[in-house]
Amino acid sequence: MSLSLSACFEASAVGGMDALFKRAEGEGPGGVSLWAGTSARTSRGEGGRVVLVGAGPGDPDLLTVRAARLIAQAQVVVVDHLVGEGVLALIPAQARRYYVGKESGHHTLPQEEINRLLVDLALDGHEVLRLKGGDPFVFGRGGEELEALIDAHIPFEVVPGITAACGVSAYAGIPLTHRDHAQSVMFATGHRRAGASELDWVALARPRQTTVIYMGVGMLEAHCAALIAHGRGASTPAALIENGTTPRQRVVCGTLEILPERARQAGVRPPALLIVGEVVDLAERMAWFTGATVG
Ligand SMILES: C[S@@+](CC[C@H](N)C(=O)[O-])C[C@H]1O[C@@H](n2cnc3c(N)ncnc32)[C@H](O)[C@@H]1O
Repeated sequence: MSLSLSACFEASAVGGMDALFKRAEGEGPGGVSLWAGTSARTSRGEGGRVVLVGAGPGDPDLLTVRAARLIAQAQVVVVDHLVGEGVLALIPAQARRYYVGKESGHHTLPQEEINRLLVDLALDGHEVLRLKGGDPFVFGRGGEELEALIDAHIPFEVVPGITAACGVSAYAGIPLTHRDHAQSVMFATGHRRAGASELDWVALARPRQTTVIYMGVGMLEAHCAALIAHGRGASTPAALIENGTTPRQRVVCGTLEILPERARQAGVRPPALLIVGEVVDLAERMAWFTGATVG
């Protein structure tokens, strides 16, 4: 393989693997093909392909049945930082693992190199399990990875996962669209690189809407200020949930005005999700998961 593995490493290695996921090529329920990509053969190895699997927000019990089955059979796994420890523990000990980072603020393998790693492993004939936090298509760059696979004529499949907004809100007791409080929900990415001004704040600040911002810890103050500046009241309930669905879950509650200070005092770090809207007030009555609540 020509790939530089400077920013990822293999935890263990086994060689000479073929067709490791036992699922037979062919028809799924109702006669629908279970295979999403092209069936073109690769030039280097035979039968290589990539399965993009959503690992959910952390709790391994939130994996889909299909994801759990594929993980249990995996031999070559390419994994992101955000995949929960409990999910990682399900990967067979003898599987070859490539950790490709994605921890906020830390060294990561550039996306182009991740794409190349996936392509090279598949061209070498491996069945590659690409394990991504949450859902691969929600702020997960799964689409970019599929474009690289399509360009290289590599067959692929996608297994959806529970995205953080759904999993984390459920474990925090925040029903995103309780009909007394919100008629719509909007997901946005608040990544520092995008800059607060890049977001459509008019849309994000709509009344009777729940707004969920991923990757927003570093810009929390700017995001809360922008929502207020675009019409959301300063007293609008808001919560920041850190490590949702895991035993380390912490929920910091407040309003748009006071949440940044509370989050600073609590020392909230990524991964954390910002939820804004009247539904946040329901958490006091509906929280059921034994994480810590602040505020
Ligand atoms: C790169 S995005 C990936 C999102 C993922 N594809 C999904 O569908 O959930 C990472 C962001 O998701 C959110 N996130 C993921 N897991 C989380 C968790 N367990 N608790 C809180 N936020 C989480 C955080 O906002 C984090 O910065």
